[in-house]
Amino acid sequence: MNTGAAQLVFLALLVAFFYFLIVRPQRNRLRSQQQLQSSLELGDEIMTFAGFFGTIRRFDGDVVTVDEPGRDAASELRLLDEVAGNKVVQTYLALADQFTAQLGYTEHGFRHANLVGRIAFNILDRLGSDRHLAELAAIAGHLHDVGNVVSRHNHPQTSALIAMPILAELGMPTEDIGLVIGAIGNHEEELGNAVSPVAAAVVIADKSDVHRSRVRKDAQVEFDIHDRVNFSATHSFVRVDADQKTVTLELEIDTEVSDILEYFEIFLHRMMMCRRAAEGLGCKFRMTVNGHSLL
Ligand SMILES: [Fe+2]
Ligand SMILES: [Fe+2]
Repeated sequence: MNTGAAQLVFLALLVAFFYFLIVRPQRNRLRSQQQLQSSLELGDEIMTFAGFFGTIRRFDGDVVTVDEPGRDAASELRLLDEVAGNKVVQTYLALADQFTAQLGYTEHGFRHANLVGRIAFNILDRLGSDRHLAELAAIAGHLHDVGNVVSRHNHPQTSALIAMPILAELGMPTEDIGLVIGAIGNHEEELGNAVSPVAAAVVIADKSDVHRSRVRKDAQVEFDIHDRVNFSATHSFVRVDADQKTVTLELEIDTEVSDILEYFEIFLHRMMMCRRAAEGLGCKFRMTVNGHSLL
């Protein structure tokens, strides 16, 4: 065989090698992947290429919306979505967060609003309340601090007054608006009281948001006790046990940063308010820190 023929055979072998070992398997993989994708239906549980498990909730052309498993029921609340997506609410919350930052307070923006709304919903939902009432608690939780856009002083009342026309515009019945603004206006420990189950859920949700992620980047952790206590909290969770009738705030605190005495120095009144709120829901308020039962 001359050199030219040998080169041709080598080239043919190389092409065959690439085709059978790389191109064909890749094509087959792509085909079966396309078949799999076209057979997907709403509610199917899938794993994404990034390795996340989820349930298909919506198809928008090529875009598939997936919920992570175990995502709480609060994620399917239409009116809460409308409130959270409202441009006025979003603008005021963003400004309220900026203004409270200027005043040296911890985070009071979207993170806090979303979290308090979700926890408030979960408290009532897990205690077996009517789902509609739980959604009202979620909405009150989302809006409870929006009044910081006006002033820190009396912000529960201004939050309620801001919420009223927005909720009315969204078509909320007057009685529901009353329950929401009553909860918002009563969320602070100085003058507030858990006047209804909705208010009780918001109080517990708001007062239990003590966490490192609330501390602002430029915070003076060494010099400010609020920043220090929040920064020390590496984990906080509100556990609701409907059978035992308990609502438990579970905290993990890094005692190298702060200690439990400092926590109670600034949060004693809040914990008392949580206790009254839990009693209003027919429950006992409990608290654990680093696995130890304190209340
Ligand atoms: Fe507040
Ligand atoms: Fe708050």
